[in-house]
Amino acid sequence: MQPKTFLVLGGYGNSGLALARLLLRFSDCRLVLAGRNLQRAEAAAAGLNAEFSGMRVKGIRLDATDTAALKPAFAGMDMAVAASSTARCAGAVAAAALEAGSDYLDIQLSSEEKLAALNALRPQILNAGRCFITDGGFHPGLPAVMIRHAAQQFDRLTSANIGSLLKVNWADLHFSEATLREFADEITREIANPRPAIYRDKMWRKAGMFSAKDYPAFDFGTAFGKRRCAPMFLEEMRYLPEMFPALQETAFYVSGFNWFVDGVVFPLLMAGVKIHPQGKFAALGNLLIWGLRRFSKPPYNNILKLEARGEKAGKPAYRELRISHEDGYLLTAAPVAACLLQYLDGTIRQPGLWLMAHLVEPGRLLEDLVRMGISVEWKKGEPAEKRVG
Ligand SMILES: NC(=O)c1ccc[n+]([C@@H]2O[C@H](COP(=O)([O-])OP(=O)(O)OC[C@H]3O[C@@H](n4cnc5c(N)ncnc54)[C@H](OP(=O)(O)O)[C@@H]3O)[C@@H](O)[C@H]2O)c1
Repeated sequence: MQPKTFLVLGGYGNSGLALARLLLRFSDCRLVLAGRNLQRAEAAAAGLNAEFSGMRVKGIRLDATDTAALKPAFAGMDMAVAASSTARCAGAVAAAALEAGSDYLDIQLSSEEKLAALNALRPQILNAGRCFITDGGFHPGLPAVMIRHAAQQFDRLTSANIGSLLKVNWADLHFSEATLREFADEITREIANPRPAIYRDKMWRKAGMFSAKDYPAFDFGTAFGKRRCAPMFLEEMRYLPEMFPALQETAFYVSGFNWFVDGVVFPLLMAGVKIHPQGKFAALGNLLIWGLRRFSKPPYNNILKLEARGEKAGKPAYRELRISHEDGYLLTAAPVAACLLQYLDGTIRQPGLWLMAHLVEPGRLLEDLVRMGISVEWKKGEPAEKRVG
């Protein structure tokens, strides 16, 4: 069979390049790395061609906002992969992929706008028999995979909460300006208009500002200890109560960044949003980025920790699943590469629009994460000291 070819938008960015490297290492696919800087795309392709045999990579210039250029660039590609900070262009990128006859995957957090744009294409995607995958990566991407996998170890899964810790050395990271802007916009939007992120008492609800229960602490182990976390909406979590009807409680939580961002920037943003609900807050976005760079301190790590409770053989049961890696971009790219391995061998290539976390086979994905160098650890039995909250 002919090797498949993927065009990776943002292919020389942090996540895109990590993904490219994993795909070249674990599959025979060919890649086109694309972004707005031809020199960087060609240099990244040359670097990968020197590292992996077969001259399988080329670099091109492609701007996701240039809708006329997308379709010709996607022609002949098996899949367009959006690893670029272009969530606002998701509809245009997906439509161009559809017109060009290629499949699609993105790793961008689903805003309501992104979901609406992709959902609008759903009938055409199905008609054309294309496989479109959204919300790939670490988060979004892994939380519902972890819960789907853990559920297999219970007769009844009743509670599944995930805490995430992102301790990154922001000062050493180099992003596209577009990425910083997108990140600041995402945070501002979630603060201005939080989506219902906690499933409890048979309904999804927003966190109460003063409810300690809605801001539980997760123990992230040596070096980090217990950290109080805030709920964050992820589209992939929304369908879990339908999949596991015994589920009484589920949510995805994120720990804070550092004292300055959590204690100064977020309260300012919240106050700003209250006074000016339609405000843009670009200056606070800049302060957020400055605060991340200035005040993030070691130790660094990226951790997802699932605490699952339920019943097994008529007895209460507890499982912990912890997935971590110090390199947040490897942790972002590895689930996508593992998903694409399942796509490449045809296991999950089905027509439709799918959330990555719902489409993949969870056990195999976790095994592939381990092969790619990610730490995946299980623990049975309730901890001596229960989660505070
Ligand atoms: N799901 C997850 O777990 C997860 C984790 C991390 C990041 N992400 C998402 O992944 C995306 C990339 O993040 P990153 O940290 O890898 O950022 P990054 O290192 O800054 O890379 C972004 C890439 O996108 C390209 N790009 C930006 N605007 C573009 C445009 N209009 N057309 C074509 N290419 C464009 C950039 O190149 P040029 O600027 O040169 O064009 C760059 O190559 C973001 O949306 C981020 O939110 C998801």
